[in-house]
Amino acid sequence: MKIAVLAGDGIGPEVTREAVRVLEALRLPGLVLLEGDVGGVATKRHGTPLPVETLDLARAADAILFGAVGDPDCDHLDRHLRPEQAILGLRKELGLFANLRPAKLFAGLEDASALRPEVASAIDLLIVRELNGDVYFGEKGIRTLVNGERQGWDLMAYSESEVRRIAHVAFKAARGRRGKLCSVDKANVLETSQVWRDTVIEVARDYPEIELSHMYVDNAAMQLVRNPGQFDVVVTGNLFGDILSDQASMCVGSIGLLASASLGDGTSGLYEPIHGSAPDIAGKGLANPMATILSAAMLLRHSLGLEAEAARIEAAVAKALADGVRGGDLGGTMGTAAIGDAVLERL
Ligand code: NAI
Ligand code: MG
Repeated sequence: MKIAVLAGDGIGPEVTREAVRVLEALRLPGLVLLEGDVGGVATKRHGTPLPVETLDLARAADAILFGAVGDPDCDHLDRHLRPEQAILGLRKELGLFANLRPAKLFAGLEDASALRPEVASAIDLLIVRELNGDVYFGEKGIRTLVNGERQGWDLMAYSESEVRRIAHVAFKAARGRRGKLCSVDKANVLETSQVWRDTVIEVARDYPEIELSHMYVDNAAMQLVRNPGQFDVVVTGNLFGDILSDQASMCVGSIGLLASASLGDGTSGLYEPIHGSAPDIAGKGLANPMATILSAAMLLRHSLGLEAEAARIEAAVAKALADGVRGGDLGGTMGTAAIGDAVLERL
């Protein structure tokens, strides 16, 4: 079992270190962790945010544990040299088209949510975000209009096959949960969304036991804070999913708690916290590593088939939170290593 560990920039290495300690504590026979450079640190060392050696390492691995990329020192560089291109490149090169982002309120965090406790405690949802298409990967450019002003443009597009494969992932996920799927689009305005909606309806025929609904993205943003308990699985495109999942994170207390899995057709996948490199707190030992530790649990479950070990990690994090273990993001004072210690003790 080979795991590529790509820690990246900012708080990436700090939170990844704690997740690695948790994985090592399980003493899994045959587990090998291999580190690679990615992001701004790779640009500085190799002249590119995603070196060939790192891509090869990621391809050969059974799963990838990813920290975060993003480095203010690289802000002045051309777009293709920016650290963020590494994560976009990995998702595209490895065909990781399905991003799973679960959000559930942990016991004891009712007061940490941005929502009222009785609203927040009902949250138990999974956002399934398409990751290889949409406006992030469409043609783009900046052109000069006849009147001399600049105009930026980014093409939003989805083909039926792209929608079909993410829809299947979402319906299957709903099957393993409460049997409800909400597809979020903007079909009242966007042609992209019309194809999206028609295709989701077509795929639904294969899953008659799943209760399918559709919602426009603006309403979904509102419903997510008004009554998040109504959602089980939410499937949506790359842009809408990016925004809605950050919003969901604050509904359950902190971005430092949200894990994610990015999956393709095979069993391999990339696992990362949904947050970025947090330059404002990097190097200070203040980051909450729980999102990365929970991402490691998702890795064991989805890529290595180790359900019991994944559940042990999740239970240890839940117990730590229930016992009052809090980083600064949750109004507490504990640092990265102390939170890692607290999870390890309970494991
Ligand atoms: P961010 O997620 O890095 O930080 C947003 C806020 O949340 C900051 O105030 C930060 O201190 C806080 N925060 C994030 N993670 C935390 C944790 N584990 N514990 C405690 N507090 C935490 O988003 P931001 O500031 O917009 O982006 C910073 C850099 O990260 C940028 O270069 C951005 O492009 C990159 N980024 C990379 C991602 C990735 O590698 N997948 C995802 C999102 C952003
Ligand atoms: Mg984001």
